[in-house]
Amino acid sequence: MTEEGSRPLSDDEDSRMADRHFVVLDDHDTLVAAAAERIASLLERVDEHAAVCLTGGSTIVPVYRRLAARPLREKIPIGRIDWFFGDERFVPAGHGLSNAVQAREVLLDPLGVPPARIHAMPTDAPDPDAAARRYEGALMAHYGADRFDRARPLFDLVLLGMGADGHAASLFPGADGLDERERWVIGVDMAGQPPLVPRVTLTLPALASSRAMLFIVSGRDKRAALSRILAGDDLPAARARSAGETLWLVDRAAAPDTLTKDLS
Ligand code: 6PG
Repeated sequence: MTEEGSRPLSDDEDSRMADRHFVVLDDHDTLVAAAAERIASLLERVDEHAAVCLTGGSTIVPVYRRLAARPLREKIPIGRIDWFFGDERFVPAGHGLSNAVQAREVLLDPLGVPPARIHAMPTDAPDPDAAARRYEGALMAHYGADRFDRARPLFDLVLLGMGADGHAASLFPGADGLDERERWVIGVDMAGQPPLVPRVTLTLPALASSRAMLFIVSGRDKRAALSRILAGDDLPAARARSAGETLWLVDRAAAPDTLTKDLS
C-alpha cells in the first residue's frame, strides 16, 4: 500500500512500522464508530501496561462517549492504562475550555479511571512554559529516562485531531516549536486558532515516540488542509508522525478528491 493511499481497515495494521495510511469513512457517524472501534481494539490487546495520549477538540467527543459506553467500555483494561494529554489550553483547572475537563467528563470518569492514572497537564504554573517543563518532568518520570529509546516508545497510542489550518495538538503553522528537537513539551503563548488562549503542547519528537498515532478528522472545513498535506505540504499535522503506524480516519466531507477517488 502506498503511503498516501486509502483502503479498508484491517486487523494487521499494527505490524507496519513508520507507515502512514488514510482511510475514508462514509460520514461522520461511521467515522466516530470506526475510530472508537479502532481505539478499543488496540487497548483490548494491552498485555501489561499502556500509555495513551488523549486529544482535545470537538471531533473526539462522540468517540470518547462511544468508548465509555457498552459494548466498547468492556474491552478497555482500565487498571492497566495511564492517560496523558497531547495538549492543553492554559486555563485554570476545572475551566470549561480545558481538554482534561472534557476528557474526564465524557471518557475517564464514565469509565471509572482512578485519578492516579490521569496525567493532566498542569495549568497552575506561572506561565505555559513552566507548565510545560513540569509536564515534561512527569512524562520523563513515567518513562524512566530523559531520552527516547526507539525500541521503547513513550506512548502506545496517540490520538490527534486536525484544525482547519492544519495544526495538530497545539502545534500551529509557522510556530517555532515545530523545530523543537530536545524538549518533550513546550508552552505556546499564542494559539493560531480559537480558543485564543495560551497552550501547552507535546512536541513532534514526543508525539512520534509512539507505537500508533490515530488522527480523527471530520468536516468540510478540513478538506483544504488535508489536500495540502496529501500534496506534500509541510503543515504541522503532516509532520506529526508516529515512529510506528500513523493512521488517519477521515470522513467523506473532509476527504479531498484524491482520497475519495481511490474508493470508487
Ligand atoms: C485542542 C486540540 C486541537 C484539536 C484540533 C481539532 O485543544 O483544540 O487538541 O489540536 O484536536 O483543533 O479540533 P476539532 O476536532 O474541534 O476540529
